[in-house]
Amino acid sequence: MITYKPIDSNTAEFIAIGPAAEVGSGRRKLVEIDGLSIAVFNIAGSYYAIADVCSHDDGPVAEGDLYDAEIECPRHGARFDVRTGKVLSFPAIVDIPSYPVKVENGEILVGLPPEG
Ligand code: FES
Repeated sequence: MITYKPIDSNTAEFIAIGPAAEVGSGRRKLVEIDGLSIAVFNIAGSYYAIADVCSHDDGPVAEGDLYDAEIECPRHGARFDVRTGKVLSFPAIVDIPSYPVKVENGEILVGLPPEG
């Protein structure tokens, strides 16, 4: 299985995606940043972001059901850990990218790789 190289939060460019208060525990927010579909999850008060593109067949994985920190792709049922993007079950066999997240002044910030 492929493990994506995590984005270094020290060099990432953080983009504000909205108030943390709008994404309560167990909830999610889907955003488009620079053409990337990204899903931000609140898992028991901590925020995580993964690509909203299933590694099996490009399905909208973040629209699936959430079981604790596991998201189940609505298309064919592959599961991923939303904290890391790590694949947990077939039919997917490849991890999906995850992004660093932080909260500052009540705003959720998602970190993308620096340009250039
Ligand atoms: S597209 Fe997600 S499991 Fe097939």
